Amino acid sequence: MTVGIDQIGVYLPRYALPLEALAAARGVPVEKIHVGLGAYQMAIAPPWEDAVSLAANAAARLFAQGQAHPGEIGLLLVATETAVDHAKPASIFLHELLGIPSNCRTFELKHACYAGTAGVMIAADWIRSGAARGRKALVVATDIARYPLQSSAEFTQGAGAVSLIVSERPRLLALDPLSGVFARNVYDFWRPLDRREALVDGKFSVDCYLDALDGAVADYRAAANGRHNGEDSSQPLPAGLAALLYHTPFPKMAYKAHRRLLESEGRRTGETPADAEESYAVQVEPWLGAARGVGNTYTASLYLCLAWLADQAASRFEGKRIGLFSYGSGCCAEFFTGGIVPGAAAVAGRIGLAALLQARRELSVEEYETFARDGAHGGTPPGEDAGFCHLAAVRDDKRIYERGRYFG
Ligand code: CAA
Repeated sequence: MTVGIDQIGVYLPRYALPLEALAAARGVPVEKIHVGLGAYQMAIAPPWEDAVSLAANAAARLFAQGQAHPGEIGLLLVATETAVDHAKPASIFLHELLGIPSNCRTFELKHACYAGTAGVMIAADWIRSGAARGRKALVVATDIARYPLQSSAEFTQGAGAVSLIVSERPRLLALDPLSGVFARNVYDFWRPLDRREALVDGKFSVDCYLDALDGAVADYRAAANGRHNGEDSSQPLPAGLAALLYHTPFPKMAYKAHRRLLESEGRRTGETPADAEESYAVQVEPWLGAARGVGNTYTASLYLCLAWLADQAASRFEGKRIGLFSYGSGCCAEFFTGGIVPGAAAVAGRIGLAALLQARRELSVEEYETFARDGAHGGTPPGEDAGFCHLAAVRDDKRIYERGRYFG
C-alpha cells in the first residue's frame, strides 16, 4: 500500500518584519542576520491570530483547492507548541470550524517542533493499519515562534501553519515505509507553562540538533539494514536523494545540518563529498526560499520547505526521491524519505505559496513591538483579511473564533 502526503495547504499571517529594520533598531550588523543566520524577514501574527486561527486557515486553503472534502476526514491531528489552552486541544476548534464529521478521532500533539512529523507518522500508520476504512487524515502543523524582545533569539521568530492530507495513493509525496528516529532528554529549548515566550540555550540547541541528526540518520541506516530503500549502500546517503529538506529554525541551520550529514556520511562510506558547497546549492538552498521570508514556524517549518519545493519545482522532482529531517527540541528527531509522485505538479500548482508571501504588508519595528506586547487577545482584522478565520475575542477565558468566506 502506498501512503503519503496527498495535498498541502499553507497559511501565513499577512504581516512581515524586514530583519534589516530590526537589526538597525537593535544595533546588530545586518550581515549577521542575512549572512550569519540566512534570514531576511519574519512573519508576525497580529492580535487576532493564534495557533488555532492559523491552522484553520491553512486547512481552509487546502479544502478550497477543491480536491478534498471535510467529510472524508477520519483523523484530525493538530501539532503545535504554542497551544491556546492547557487542556482543550486546538484540534477540537478546527473540528467545528472546518465542519469535520463527528466520527473523527481528533487530538493535539506536542513535542516542540517535532510534533508535525509525529502527526504525519501516526496518520500514515493509521492508514496502513486499515483503521482508516478508506478515509483520510488531516494533519495541521501550526505555531507562532516567540522569544523575548531584545534577546539574540528575537531574529529567529516567525509564524505560520501547514495543513497536510495524508492518504492512500497520495498525489504529492509517497512516504517510504522506514525512517530513523533519535530521542534524548535535553534542556535546549523550553517554555514553562506560565510563559508566552520560549526560553532557549541557543548554542547548545544547535549542537543538540546536529547530534540528533547523526542519531536519526544512523537509525535510518540500521533500519534499512545497510540498504536504504534499495540504494547502493556504498554511496553517501545524499547521493541517492534529489533534495534534502531540514527543520529550519533559521536558514543557516539547514546549511550546518547538510554539512554535518555530508561529513558523517562521507566518514561512514570512506568517501569525502567532492564539493559540499555545490551539494548544498543544488539539494538544499533552493528549498529555503519560504523560510528566509517567514522565519521559524516550529512544527510547520519542515513542511513549509516541502510546500516551497512543491510550489516552485514539483514537475522537476516527479519520480525522484527526497530526504526530510525533523527536529524537535527536548529532543526527538526523525529522518525519513519519500518519492515525489508523477503528476504531483498538478496538485502542487494549487498551493499558491509565492503569492501568499507577496501579499504581505511590511510592519515597522514599532508596529511589531506593539503586536508582540499585545499577544493574541482577539480583534477585528482589516478588510483584506476578512476572508479568513480570526480570533474575535477571549471572554470568560473562552476563545471565540469567526470564520470568513473560505469556510463556505
Ligand atoms: N557578518 C556575518 N556573519 C556574522 C556576523 C557578521 N557581522 N556576526 C556574526 N556572524 C555569524 C556568526 O559567526 C555565526 O555564524 P556561525 O554559526 O556559522 O558561526 C552566526 O552569525 C550567528 O552568530 P552568533 O552565534 O553569535 O549569534 P547569536 O548569539 O545571536 O545566536 C542563535 C544565534 C543561537 C541561533 C539564536 O538566534 C537563538 O538562540 N535562536 C533560537 C534557537 C534556535 O533557533 N536554535 C536552533 C536549533 S534548535 C531547533 O531547531 C528547535 C527550534 O526550532 C527552536
